[in-house]
Amino acid sequence: MLDLIIRGGTLATASDVFAADLGIRDGRIVQIGERLGAAVREVDASGRFVLPGGIDSHVHLSQPSGDGIVMADDFESGTRSALFGGNTCVLPFCLPRKGQPLREALKDYHALAEGRCYTDHSFHLILPEVNGAMIGQDLPALVADGYPSFKVFMTYEGLRLNDAEILQTLDFARRTGATVMVHCENEDAIRYLVDRAEAAGDLAPRFHASTRPVAVEREATHRALSLAEIVDTRIVIVHVSNEPAIAEIRAARARGVNVVGETCPQYLVLTAADLDGLDWEGAKFVCSPPPRDTASQVACWNGIETGVFDLFSSDHCPFRYDDPTGKLNPRAREGFRHIPNGIPGVETRLPILFSEGVMKGRIDLQRFVALSSTNHAKTYGLPTKGSIAVGMDADIAIWDPNETRPIRHAALHDAADYSPYEGLEITGWPTTVILGGTVMIENGVLAGKMGAGRYRRRQTAASPNRAGPV
Ligand code: URP
Ligand code: ZN
Ligand code: ZN
Repeated sequence: MLDLIIRGGTLATASDVFAADLGIRDGRIVQIGERLGAAVREVDASGRFVLPGGIDSHVHLSQPSGDGIVMADDFESGTRSALFGGNTCVLPFCLPRKGQPLREALKDYHALAEGRCYTDHSFHLILPEVNGAMIGQDLPALVADGYPSFKVFMTYEGLRLNDAEILQTLDFARRTGATVMVHCENEDAIRYLVDRAEAAGDLAPRFHASTRPVAVEREATHRALSLAEIVDTRIVIVHVSNEPAIAEIRAARARGVNVVGETCPQYLVLTAADLDGLDWEGAKFVCSPPPRDTASQVACWNGIETGVFDLFSSDHCPFRYDDPTGKLNPRAREGFRHIPNGIPGVETRLPILFSEGVMKGRIDLQRFVALSSTNHAKTYGLPTKGSIAVGMDADIAIWDPNETRPIRHAALHDAADYSPYEGLEITGWPTTVILGGTVMIENGVLAGKMGAGRYRRRQTAASPNRAGPV
């Protein structure tokens, strides 16, 4: 007897689209076929797409942001919102305090997440500093214990690493099979431009974009890729926003560098003009790198279509807008420097890609699955996730390609007070979401419980194989 059968849907993986029923037992997919036997429960998926649950591998939850700034989402609201957006797994970041042992920081984040998640989860570790003891002892043990991915920054004072530290980290990754994600923006150039803008009285949110121009990202992307090339290791370039940075990835690949590229919804549907909003409304769109122009949007779509990007993530980094702990904190009007960087988007990531990508004919359903789920599992070491196959976790999102409605923050499930995508018309929404065989959302209504999402220990991973099917 099966626990659950999903009947009558059109299934898709990163390689195939086919009609079949899906049989689930003990949290795993055990049958794919026709005329499956009896089950305790059935879900009718006729007229809908049955896809692997989304994996959002770039999410910030409960991350301390200093100066009285508080991230809008904790693990409860953030994973609930992720679930409603068709996701069954998220990979948030663990940010250690300066000098805090990495183990202790991870323990803190586990405590924040334990029993509060609606989706499965695992942690990337941000490395705010690198030293010999870390590289020699702490990180190898952490990789072996299921934390095989690290984010390093080339920007943000107090967080950025210098080139030697990044090289050390990349070389460590080569030896251990770990994965290094790099935020590519040149901090010195930004600092110079910000100081110059402030001296000229250019304080409004829109100057956040003009003080982080494309060249700042392109230069850092080139440098990060060169460092990976020097030590011959795989590298993930996160939140890529523009053509010159894309060209750097293409050129590095042509030289044989093993690079995984990531882009995000903000670079497909927002522009720097959104930061122009009256009365500091532009603060709602302050994130780094900033949204660019319509030509950059076209370039990012091209990168999605042509395989430059393997990953499509939200970079969900939510702050409330009209709130002293958020975008309009007491110092915000002194200048854009005081506006916390980051925007919400964990729930809207996949509807935007589905509607703008699949429904508008830019990508097919298989590519949607690869970008939204499969490649995240492969890149970050979750071998039982990201596809529909016998033996995989029964993490499923059922999508209705006929449901059309605009994004309205009032209908979302995060704890922010706005969506940067308010009013964007979406065709195709996830309606039913199944986590490990448990129906968590049924026809748009929450059916599962907080705590159903579990921590997932990860493995070191092979890169998505561009020569292969994904
Ligand atoms: O502005 C952004 N993206 N904030 C989140 C932190 C990061 O760099 O990913
Ligand atoms: Zn970043
Ligand atoms: Zn981020």
